[in-house]
Amino acid sequence: MRVVIADHPLITHKLTVLRDKRTPPPIFRQLVEELMTLLAYEATREVRVESVEIETPVTKTTGVRISQPSPLIVPILRAGLGMLEGMVKLVPTAEVGFLGMKRNEETLVPESYAERLPEKLHGRQCFVLDPMLATGGSLAAAIQFLFERGADEVTAICVLGTPEGIAAVREQVGDRNVTLVLGALDDGLNEHAYIVPGLGDAGDRLYGTAD
Ligand code: PRP
Ligand code: URA
Repeated sequence: MRVVIADHPLITHKLTVLRDKRTPPPIFRQLVEELMTLLAYEATREVRVESVEIETPVTKTTGVRISQPSPLIVPILRAGLGMLEGMVKLVPTAEVGFLGMKRNEETLVPESYAERLPEKLHGRQCFVLDPMLATGGSLAAAIQFLFERGADEVTAICVLGTPEGIAAVREQVGDRNVTLVLGALDDGLNEHAYIVPGLGDAGDRLYGTAD
């Protein structure tokens, strides 16, 4: 598994505001979308393209366009929804599937409650969006699900990650073709398995408490 930690002052600047507990939900949502667009630039570096002949006003030339089948973007509900708009802005021809997952806060085991994905993912490049890679349980389960549907390549994009989360996903995916793009690698987890320093509960900060 390849791990890329985005290193850019704009990302670090936006992350600092995002982490601040005084940042209200409207600004938080806007920042997550902006961060996603910056991370998408890094995450789509290997997006499959095919060459295409075009004619400019001056001459014929060869360019590229994104190959078919189009990439599949999979936000993990709920918090991953906050990243979706930033990604589709950059790859408007991609299709979108959904996975709903909720981490049980006592056992830390992710529970899947929704799925709307193509039955077959053979030959598709999949981009999984989830802002938080904490224990890694949710992301590992989501990636496993996509491979079981036939995906041969998965790129996961997270705003924050931990060494524990990376290790858990690495163990799950083995030698399969997975890339993990992170906005920052945080120190680790606290006793409640929250990311430290982190930003708190991403879903709640985006959309308020759902309980
Ligand atoms: C958060 C986050 C991840 C998960 C990370 O979602 O968005 O999906 O926790 O934790 P893990 O790496 O330890 O599995 P949550 O389960 O709180 O659901 P929500 O998005 O609906 O708030
Ligand atoms: N889920 C979150 O939203 N935040 C964390 O810090 C850990 C899991």
